Amino acid sequence: MDENTHMRAALAAASEDQIIFDLAGIEGQYESLMRELPDISVRFAMKSCPVDEVLASLAKKGAGFDAASPNEIAQAIRTGVPIGKIHYGNTIKSDQNIIDAHRLGVRDFATDSREDVAAIAAHAAGARVFCRLATTGDGALWGLSQKFGCSGTDAVLVMEAARAAGLKPSGLSVHVGSQQMTADAWQNAFERLADVLAALNQRGIFLDHINLGGGLPALGYLDRRSRPLEPPMDKIFAVIREGMQQLREVSGSHLDFIMEPGRYLVADHGAIRAHVSRLSSRQQLNDERQYWLYLSCGKFNGLYEMDELQYKLVFPSHLDAEYVPAVVAGPTCDSDDAYAYGHNLVQVPKAVASGDPVWILSTGAYATSYTTQGFNGFSPLPYTWIHGDICMKGLE
Ligand SMILES: Cc1ncc(COP(=O)(O)O)c(C=O)c1O
Repeated sequence: MDENTHMRAALAAASEDQIIFDLAGIEGQYESLMRELPDISVRFAMKSCPVDEVLASLAKKGAGFDAASPNEIAQAIRTGVPIGKIHYGNTIKSDQNIIDAHRLGVRDFATDSREDVAAIAAHAAGARVFCRLATTGDGALWGLSQKFGCSGTDAVLVMEAARAAGLKPSGLSVHVGSQQMTADAWQNAFERLADVLAALNQRGIFLDHINLGGGLPALGYLDRRSRPLEPPMDKIFAVIREGMQQLREVSGSHLDFIMEPGRYLVADHGAIRAHVSRLSSRQQLNDERQYWLYLSCGKFNGLYEMDELQYKLVFPSHLDAEYVPAVVAGPTCDSDDAYAYGHNLVQVPKAVASGDPVWILSTGAYATSYTTQGFNGFSPLPYTWIHGDICMKGLE
């Protein structure tokens, strides 16, 4: 049986709503990333899937962790990875956050401002800092622009400030935007990195690593028009390999490369077993009759990213059915909990009944983390996992 077959068997065996992770699939994805980019070290972006068993699987394969808070650092430490493989990748941190991270043993800190550098110097003396460059986020489903990163000019000032404050200016980082669909975004990021690297070299600052961030896309999503999202993976990996080589040539010192993939490693190896709440039709204000499919799972308990994409749905009890076009929505009393305007209608079986199972595929990333603690009384999904053909274990 292949991976998908194992996942389907697990989904079919699930009689209650839950999210299922295929740990063997995640490990296989890690291995395939290592084959594409053998020279990088992975720092898995914990925010995308802060599930102990997933983290342990990745740690076992050799990954470290990109943590964004002291609590994430503590969770990463519990996997047993050496502390040197955990970095504080969030440019936003209070003095207390820095103190706590330093006490936990972290010595690598992301930064993007002189204010933050001063705080790191005060509370984590001698730490290594890597400065995040701003990107436009163009080409990504979620651009992550503006809130993070600084200009190249500012990066030089930030790194000079770090050196003057007794910190080790150690690396540069970028994030090209989450679910980045273009190779061009990577090309632009490498050009910016090369410029700043050269400017730093001229000032006698020689870095030891480049952090290429997240952004590698998942393969199993549909766009808002229900078309498969097909990122040009071969081209993306080729541009990254070439970019790494160019940076090595520009650099006056040995460079190690780090990446912080999140969704690429986990998205396609998680799936949700949900159920139909109701398929109903209502005449709208424009007099048209519209079908709405309400699921037990929506924006606030697993499908937070439904603003920008559609998920593949499987109705296992209605495989050969008559279909009707419907708006897909979650169970809460909140109008944001639905595919929005601009989304195509989704073909759903006309005969679905309340309680029928629905499988929601490629939901391994940002499902458990982007979930409310019981909005409108709808609880977060419990999670379970499989490892290849090892049977599903209930964890909660
Ligand atoms: C600093 C940082 N690194 C990595 C990631 C992971 O991104 P992705 O899931 O697109 O790989 C994120 C996500 O937003 C992030 O903020």
